[in-house]
Amino acid sequence: HEKPLRHRIAELVKEFPDYPKASIRYQDLSPLYADPGLLADASEHACNHFSGRFDRVVAVEARGFALGAVMAARAGVPLTLVRKPGKLPGEVQSVSYALEYGEDRLEVQQGAIAPGERVVCVDDVLATGGTLRATAELVEASQAKVAGAVVLVTLSGLLGAAQLQRYDLLSLCEVA
Ligand code: PRP
Repeated sequence: HEKPLRHRIAELVKEFPDYPKASIRYQDLSPLYADPGLLADASEHACNHFSGRFDRVVAVEARGFALGAVMAARAGVPLTLVRKPGKLPGEVQSVSYALEYGEDRLEVQQGAIAPGERVVCVDDVLATGGTLRATAELVEASQAKVAGAVVLVTLSGLLGAAQLQRYDLLSLCEVA
């Protein structure tokens, strides 16, 4: 492909202002998933970036599952799904994080992430950074190490990257 990945992503992502509620700038990545090869190229780029430095992919519900699954398959490493509360059977480990109003929670199955593993956390969009930060905390609560985080799109201006300062954050495209 002669066009840089970040341009291809920027051209395909579509913003829906005030969806699902006022002041949220929803980034619809559906056209990007519909583009044959784009997810594969994004996955290749991310796997190369973290090459030899990760043993597991942890992907965040729901829109982080697509890239996370492709990356794990490509790298031949296990995939773990981090989910919204009440979706996982058996014992879970959970983490709460602050939203603009109120709080939210993410869960992972107990024992799903082994101590000492090097984990790449994957999501589609980085906005305030609360979701990926909480995911990194879940990884660390398992005595595993966060090798880094990957997102397809960062909404610049929301300081999400600042929440992930301690980590190697790979953002494939910035949207103003
Ligand atoms: C969106 C997006 C990220 C998160 C980013 O998920 O897919 O997971 O918000 O926001 P943050 O950086 O401010 O935490 P959403 O809660 O809409 O859930 P979904 O993926 O299940 O649609």
